[in-house]
Amino acid sequence: MSLDHHRTHGRVRVWDLPTRLFHWSLAACMIAAFISAQSGGYTAQRVHFLCGYAVLVLVVFRAAWGFAGSRYARFAQFVRGPAEILRYLRGLLAADRPEGAAGYPGHNPLGAISVMVLLAACFIQATSGLFSKDDIASEGPLARQVSDALVDRFTSVHDAGESVLYVLLALHLSAIVFYRWFKRDNLVVPMITGDKQIPDDLTVEAAQDRTLWPRALGLLGVSALLVYLLVNWN
Ligand code: HEM
Ligand code: HEM
Repeated sequence: MSLDHHRTHGRVRVWDLPTRLFHWSLAACMIAAFISAQSGGYTAQRVHFLCGYAVLVLVVFRAAWGFAGSRYARFAQFVRGPAEILRYLRGLLAADRPEGAAGYPGHNPLGAISVMVLLAACFIQATSGLFSKDDIASEGPLARQVSDALVDRFTSVHDAGESVLYVLLALHLSAIVFYRWFKRDNLVVPMITGDKQIPDDLTVEAAQDRTLWPRALGLLGVSALLVYLLVNWN
């Protein structure tokens, strides 16, 4: 059964369930990692580390899903070169048709940059944490595997990453508000329900959803295993 290649309009599935679960889990784990970093104490530190590991698993999963996921989850579907990004930027304020109707049912060429940058930033933050160490008792599980100088570098990256992520997340949320207010396009609902409303005069390809979850679970398992092995290196 392949829904994937049906061209359709009306309510169209764009974000498969694994992509949606990925997104909201990532958001939850990132926020929990920020909050747990604020307070000291053993429990907060455990929570901080565990959230970071979860972020790592999620990002590794998403990287795989960018090749093995359904139509609009694939990097090749939405990552575009400078020419198309510029063209998209020029038309951005002109039309106020929703993205789905404007030829981009999935991520638009500009959004694609933010997807990749957010994923990379989350990955760098979690990875640097593994090698970080503060002056008191907090030490990432791999800090003893590398030199003190390297630990200092990673710790600086981890500290600086906090501000970088705040800026990226502010941009992320501002973009969503921008589309909502100025383009009358609600991007949040599709990231929850999976569906976008495509006008009747247009047809787009729907993403396959239901039949993909065994593959998603497999990839999630492999991601978790890889991260587990990395974290327990010594
Ligand atoms: C720490 C918090 C967050 C992180 C790290 C994050 C990261 C991301 C990433 C990586 C994507 C790409 C999704 C994919 O294709 O895999 C994305 C998309 C999206 N995020 Fe977030 N997100 C966060 C919080 C939020 C919040 C709080 C909201 C809503 C209020 C939100 C709304 C969205 C929406 C609507 C999209 C889809 C954008 C589109 O249609 O192209 N995100 N986010
Ligand atoms: C990706 C999610 C993560 C976020 C958002 C995050 C965020 C933060 C923040 C904001 C701090 C406080 C920095 C400061 O003192 O100014 C911190 C500290 C720390 N984090 Fe993370 N972290 C993440 C993942 C991890 C992971 C996976 C580990 C290790 C297992 C880790 C280990 C540490 C350590 C050892 C510190 C204390 C050293 C330092 O101040 O940099 N973090 N983290």
